[in-house]
Amino acid sequence: MPATDWPYPFWIAHRGAGKLAPENTLAAFRLGASYGFRAFECDVKLSRDLVPFLLHDATLNRTTSAKGAAGLLDWAQLARLDAGAWHSAAFASEPLASLEAVAQFCLEQGLALNLELKPSPDQGLLTGQVVGREVLRLWRGKLPLFSSFDPEALRGAAETAPLVPRALLLGALKPGWLLLAQDLACAAVVTDYRLMDKTVVALIHKVGLRALVYTVNDETAATRLIADGVDGIITDAVDRFAPA
Ligand code: G3P
Ligand code: MG
Repeated sequence: MPATDWPYPFWIAHRGAGKLAPENTLAAFRLGASYGFRAFECDVKLSRDLVPFLLHDATLNRTTSAKGAAGLLDWAQLARLDAGAWHSAAFASEPLASLEAVAQFCLEQGLALNLELKPSPDQGLLTGQVVGREVLRLWRGKLPLFSSFDPEALRGAAETAPLVPRALLLGALKPGWLLLAQDLACAAVVTDYRLMDKTVVALIHKVGLRALVYTVNDETAATRLIADGVDGIITDAVDRFAPA
């Protein structure tokens, strides 16, 4: 087991509250918190005028009332969109969340955050740099954990916020994956849960990093991963897993 302190809760709600509320909105965070979750994963990218805000996709099409590339609008335009009606009528008019609003919510409620850097195309380094600066401006006390599939985004965050812990996200274990995580001075590796087992956990722990998994919604899989020794589970199933 790595010696370094790990301040993040084991159970992490995916995109705010998984699928029960519109992903990556404050409504989702509120819902996840109402189920007892104390840690949240969300996806952050940049508006055209470099304001960090939450959105999973590169386009607005699936989860907002607008269409087109998310990075081509200024925050003032994005802030007027409906990011809830696509999910259900109950959440109509829910706005997109700025990173600033998420920081305020997490700090007020004492919640931990796993901030996935999800850059628009070709904006990896810039996204990491800008979000790193913003996190240092906005957060007091317990810092978020950065994660990304994009090594350039993690490099950018390391430039502007070297003391904010980083995790490499992996959807496949390609040759050199652990060396890459070490090269980026990551504190953790977060894999697709189907890639993680006792052997992979041991490899990660041996070099002093933590091993986390996404996105586990099945109880049998969760039980297996806990037995394998993972350090954290990201889940949509906030209504079925009790974080306590
Ligand atoms: O951060 C873990 C997980 O969120 C990665 O996948 O596509 O849901 O952002 P995705
Ligand atoms: Mg994500």
